Amino acid sequence: MADLKTTICGIEFPNPIWTAAGPGGADAEMLLRAARGGAGGLVAKTISVKAARVPTPNIITPLSGSLLNAELWSEHNYRHFIDRELPRVRESGVPVIASIGYSAEELAVLGKELERSGVADAVEFSIHYVGKDPENLERLASALKDNLSVPILAKLSPGMSDLEGVVDVLGGIVDGFVAINSVGPALDFDIETRQPLLGSRDGRGWLSGAAILPIALHYVETIASLTDKPVIGAGGIRRVEDAVKHIMAGASAVQLCSLAVLKGQEVYGKLAADLSGWLDSHGFDNVGQIIGLYRRERPEAEHMREADFPEIDYDLCNLCLLCERSCIHQAIHFEDKEFFLDRSLCVRCGLCCSLCPKSALSLGTEAP
Ligand SMILES: Cc1cc2nc3c(=O)[nH]c(=O)nc-3n(C[C@H](O)[C@H](O)[C@H](O)COP(=O)(O)O)c2cc1C
Repeated sequence: MADLKTTICGIEFPNPIWTAAGPGGADAEMLLRAARGGAGGLVAKTISVKAARVPTPNIITPLSGSLLNAELWSEHNYRHFIDRELPRVRESGVPVIASIGYSAEELAVLGKELERSGVADAVEFSIHYVGKDPENLERLASALKDNLSVPILAKLSPGMSDLEGVVDVLGGIVDGFVAINSVGPALDFDIETRQPLLGSRDGRGWLSGAAILPIALHYVETIASLTDKPVIGAGGIRRVEDAVKHIMAGASAVQLCSLAVLKGQEVYGKLAADLSGWLDSHGFDNVGQIIGLYRRERPEAEHMREADFPEIDYDLCNLCLLCERSCIHQAIHFEDKEFFLDRSLCVRCGLCCSLCPKSALSLGTEAP
């Protein structure tokens, strides 16, 4: 069995599949359930100095495998959370990561309280409601660093216009990064009642789950290319291949939120077991061997790639004709179960290969 143990910021985690700040870390009960479900790290719901007043309804599924939420941060009083909830979670023996927000003043208060209590092995701070200006983010990180001795992780939200500047400024202060928070603001509503589906004042919320995986991978890979500090991936993980992508993009561990909301708290252990199996079947002894593998193996791209025309493997094709129906250029047709490609119409976009449920179509790739 491939070894899943990972050491990040000097903390040993039994496996790299963690909870994310969200409903799965709402209180001690939820975090202990996640630990029983096999989570390798326990990230709690974000607390702030002022308890949130959360609207209802606050979670909907706008697309399969995705969530839109208006959950804000924890409704718990922060003293209760730090003195009553988090200490119970330590019984699990799994490393505990507190999540806090938002202003520099609030982070200083919460940092002091967490330092006094000693209940967190590390602390993640969310920049979700504070803007993305590097100078302000530097102030936030410094306010926390001045009050805490445990490792600090900066959890970044997507939509950063100056990611390089942010990583540069924060990299000198924090011990690692988490990417990404949910994407938005985003909106969905009922066309019959013309009412929003979420209870937030403006009906808007934040998108997570399947729909955001490629955005998360972009952030993880970019941040990993900008810093040697560990990056923890979050966003869109539904199956082991998604977790492998995050890790190959440069994540040292991953966090799951939407999947646990949709499928229950056993998903952590199931994904960890699947990850171990995936590593075994691909000849890796431990998860460390694949961290950043995509980044290491991808040659510096000087040119655009140029693909060959699609080719079919008849042994795999199940004649579903999805490729024929979905080719907007009408370059594909089947006759007597034979695949015909009109090269004068095919633009080598690759969609047919990507859509094929049996991976029967492939595009060769040649250097230009
Ligand atoms: C219902 C819900 C509540 C969340 N609450 C928080 C939170 O309190 N703090 C935070 O930093 N992120 C929060 N998030 C964001 C998640 O931690 C995570 O970054 C994001 O959902 C992407 O991961 P996923 O695609 O696996 O859900 C929340 C997400 C959801 C769906």
